[in-house]
Amino acid sequence: MIPFNIPSRTGIEQKYVLDAISAQKLCGDGPYSRRCESWFESVLNVGKTYLTPSCTHALELAALLIDIQPGDEVIMPSYTFVSTANAFALRGAKIVFVDIRADTQNLDERLVESAITDRTRAIVPVHYAGISCSMNEIMAIADRHGLYVIEDAAQGMMASFEGRPLGGIGHLGTYSFHETKNYTSGGEGGLLIVNDDRFQKRAEIIREKGTNRKQFLRGVVDKYSWVDVGSSYLPSELQAAYLWGQLEAAEKINDYRLMLWRNYYDALSPMQDQGLVSLPVVPSAARHNGHMFYLKLSGLDQRDRLIDCLKQRGVQAPFHYVPLHDTAVGRKWGRLHGSDQQTSKTANSLLRLPMWYGLAEKDQLEVIGWVKDFFTSEG
Ligand SMILES: Cc1ncc(COP(=O)(O)O)c(C=O)c1O
Repeated sequence: MIPFNIPSRTGIEQKYVLDAISAQKLCGDGPYSRRCESWFESVLNVGKTYLTPSCTHALELAALLIDIQPGDEVIMPSYTFVSTANAFALRGAKIVFVDIRADTQNLDERLVESAITDRTRAIVPVHYAGISCSMNEIMAIADRHGLYVIEDAAQGMMASFEGRPLGGIGHLGTYSFHETKNYTSGGEGGLLIVNDDRFQKRAEIIREKGTNRKQFLRGVVDKYSWVDVGSSYLPSELQAAYLWGQLEAAEKINDYRLMLWRNYYDALSPMQDQGLVSLPVVPSAARHNGHMFYLKLSGLDQRDRLIDCLKQRGVQAPFHYVPLHDTAVGRKWGRLHGSDQQTSKTANSLLRLPMWYGLAEKDQLEVIGWVKDFFTSEG
């Protein structure tokens, strides 16, 4: 069996997790959490960072920080994970879905401006497959209309746009360390990135149950108390310790994934040249992180035939998002702006091939061989 994903593991994580256990300091914001956060700030060079229990939580924190109120509108693609929308729907926002681009499957920046109304508060670009959205256009639109940009960079760690790390461009950004992502903090985890300094003080308060506990720990106040709304958005030290083992090997993991990605691309591009399949497009301003290798086929029937064909050979190759605008809840709490030219087409034609740190090249060659055989058998 060749699974679609195996959680990334370098081998050093156990040592750090055991060390955290021995230190008898397991709650959040301990030494491993601080080490991870300063790595993001100094090595990736993004704004102030806060580890969270998931990317979903980081998005929820972002919605609280920009003070989303019932009836506010938030623009995002419909081709995304449910948490991108839910974080804002939880605060009563109306989700305004905009179609995606045919090349990158990312929010189509050319359609964003016409979706803006006087209720619009934010734009949430999702960097699908770790390949950047057109951030210059999106930031310029937000600037013209006084909107916030929250990058859902769940899949984007180690990827960049014009040399700037994804998640480090908008006012706020988020990463996921779920086990399906390039780096994991032991199965679940996330990061909130605060690039706009105005949000820093409140971010640490909301994350600490609405208290000024962080100020107390820094000796700024002599006791801490309830000062704002908030929740518990700290992961444990065990998660941070696991993540530290991955951050130390961040380049190695990235290089391996990029090598696998290029193998797929080089082997399958002759089929793209023959018009049989579409492969991922990486815009010249973007550097991706090998998060995902996807194929787009002629449509639903052919895509499902390839999924079945690979399944019979023991290969997991799943499809991906179900468009959010086309769900009962999406219709209730959201609306599609304009028409759906690409979103459903992508959802119906895309499948993802196995990709993880450590996937053996000989196994990858088998997968490639079976994909090629499939197209030969399709005539
Ligand atoms: C685009 C996107 N946003 C948000 C999330 C949520 O991440 P998490 O599972 O860490 O909450 C995911 C997870 O798959 C995702 O793909």
